[in-house]
Amino acid sequence: MIRNLFITTALPYANGRFHIGHMMEYIQADIWVRFQRMQGHKVHWVCADDTHGAPIMIAAEKAGKTPQEFVAEIAATRKQYHDGFHLSFDHWYSTDSPENVELAQDIYKKLKANGFISTKTIDQFYDTVKGMFLPDRYIKGECPKCGAKDQYGDSCEVCGAVYAPTDLKNPYSTLSGATPEMRSSEHFFFKLSDPKCVEFLREWTRSIDRHGVPRLQSEIIAKTKEWLGEDGKMGDWDISRDAPYFGIPIPDAPGKFFYVWLDAPVGYLASLKSYFDSGKAKANGESRTFAEFLADPETEQIHFIGKDIAYFHVLFWPAMLKFAGYKAPDSVNVHGFIQMAGEKMSKSRGTGLDPLKYLSIGMNPEWLRYYIAAKLNANVEDFDFTAEDFMARVNSDLIGKYVNIASRTAGFIHKHFQGKLFERETINLFPDAVVGVAADEIRDHFDQREFGKAIRRIMEAADAVNSFYDVSKPWELAKSDPGSSQKIQLHLVCSHVIESFRVLSIYLAPIMPTLAAKAFEFLNIPPQTWADVGNTLPANHKINTYKHLMSRVEESQLDALLDLAPTPDSRLNGVNSTENSKAEKPSKATNAPNLSGVKPKSQNSPGASSSDFINIDDFSKIDLRIAKILNAEHVDGSDKLLRLTLDVNEKNEDGTPRLRNVFSGIKSAYAPEQLVGQLTVLVANLAPRKMKFGISEGMVLAASSKDGDNASGLYILNPHTGASPGMKVS
Ligand code: MSP
Ligand code: ZN
Repeated sequence: MIRNLFITTALPYANGRFHIGHMMEYIQADIWVRFQRMQGHKVHWVCADDTHGAPIMIAAEKAGKTPQEFVAEIAATRKQYHDGFHLSFDHWYSTDSPENVELAQDIYKKLKANGFISTKTIDQFYDTVKGMFLPDRYIKGECPKCGAKDQYGDSCEVCGAVYAPTDLKNPYSTLSGATPEMRSSEHFFFKLSDPKCVEFLREWTRSIDRHGVPRLQSEIIAKTKEWLGEDGKMGDWDISRDAPYFGIPIPDAPGKFFYVWLDAPVGYLASLKSYFDSGKAKANGESRTFAEFLADPETEQIHFIGKDIAYFHVLFWPAMLKFAGYKAPDSVNVHGFIQMAGEKMSKSRGTGLDPLKYLSIGMNPEWLRYYIAAKLNANVEDFDFTAEDFMARVNSDLIGKYVNIASRTAGFIHKHFQGKLFERETINLFPDAVVGVAADEIRDHFDQREFGKAIRRIMEAADAVNSFYDVSKPWELAKSDPGSSQKIQLHLVCSHVIESFRVLSIYLAPIMPTLAAKAFEFLNIPPQTWADVGNTLPANHKINTYKHLMSRVEESQLDALLDLAPTPDSRLNGVNSTENSKAEKPSKATNAPNLSGVKPKSQNSPGASSSDFINIDDFSKIDLRIAKILNAEHVDGSDKLLRLTLDVNEKNEDGTPRLRNVFSGIKSAYAPEQLVGQLTVLVANLAPRKMKFGISEGMVLAASSKDGDNASGLYILNPHTGASPGMKVS
């Protein structure tokens, strides 16, 4: 069944350029969107600038611009990020638009007609110089508890006390310096306390979508239980602000505007409407009108947001839609934060990794897409960007495993077989490891936003292909005479490897669309969809000559990227935000990962090409452990293997000892009883391997002569006395 997906990402505040946190959210959504498109589903992904509110109004004034000019300048910076990181938005719009006025007012009127709007007079600080009510963040004063000066209206940074702005001693406006006055004003409220509303939210937040999947992640459901409380009391939500305000006027209420958080999510619908009305949706194969599409029960409305704005999206927004007679969202997908050295990169602190600088120093956007994908899962978890990790993932996994497959195989096909694959269609040689089971698992991981798991599975498949290549020794086969059986073997091996490379490229396409496009071009095939996983390259298919697909990350690039001194270009990034001036603390860029421990010299020193060496990070990826052989036995039907039961001093989740099952090709050298009770060395983090006889959970190290022939003997390693099971070998 074809899905109709209406996808949104959070509307970024139009008071600053994008930072890496924005990119992370868009990359997450883009991968999911591209994956769904490859499945043949219809996807409409829209976003917009979030333009309204006091901070933007004030920032514009400071810059000597109208708010409209101010947000237009920010809007003009967006495209270079979208294009630069291959973000496939279908439409980008603005909340400062006629569509948003119309829709926000419509929703408000319906809420009002349905009895969900009330009014109340409230007291608030008023700046008589500026002639405006002051949002809390623009009021400072002395802490009521410790007397510290220049503290914000919500809490004291010196003693940690928490209080209301009205509790401050000698309060002043940070805009004018004037002492604010208390004034009262009528405000409009959305009656979230209405029992119908609370009941609806309780039900909605815990319900499942049409596919039987909970609408919200378990962490978010737990939060909503906290927020909704068991006594059923939600506070009403103040949705109005007094003029002067950059926002949308409230109908029949002169001088009153919607609070920015009311019209911001409505901006999702406004952007969608503009996308439809402009004819773009039609060009994208959508024949319904905006209203038809939005109301259609077939349409799935899915929001991608960060954890800091979950409250608005899982309580206010569904309730607004529901009680205004619109469809509530199908699901809200919440992600955690990307951090630099543990420091959250917020709207106000955009330092650390500037996306534009990343591009301008020639770093490949798909490296970042790959890295972010590798770190993401479906939970609400933060993760750190570290330079070492970034380099390892890209260079060792992406280049070392995937790209390597094509680069090491293509030459044989061209040199020996005029660029043509085998004369019979190549069935995939790895039914479970690369297609079949693997394909299903990878598809499900993508669908469930478990991108890290998808990547791990794809890399396991790449490992299987590479080891097939290695054991087949094509370089040996290539020495044979034309027409010999070994030459035919070479042709078969390389054709199979190329066929698997095609499949791996399909898997990686949602994450790295341009790399995949280059791979398909090399393979001389049209762009592939997911269904093409089940096909194979035809007999005698001619591939193109291999052109370099992707280069490795250089340490010098990361050094330049994370340099403490920002480029003139990056200075604009995020730090000009007035959103939260509390952030004007020493730059956290000083916490940027320090690369100085790794010697850049190794990159260029003559005669030592970087591929001849691994660095200590590469080595430390191998988890070597002392293992005790508790049991060893013959394996029915195998004349090479012994089955070993190993104790590595591990525990199962329930606390019982975990033993490892390992198949080892040492039958020619040892009788089982010789081994029982011995200590040896296990590669403990080798991906479990499914074999004909069962799953092998690691590899025991053994020495043999250089060419790997066992005739000259095979010797397992023994540690010196004193070592015990579970000890790390390094
Ligand atoms: N304007 C509001 C959203 C309105 S949606 C109707 C807003 N804007 S924002 O620019 O501050 O943030 C936009 C998105 O970026 C949010 O989903 C936010 O969670 C996300 N991120 C901001 N910093 C982030 C990280 N460091 N990491 C990941 N996402 C982060 O909030
Ligand atoms: Zn204090």
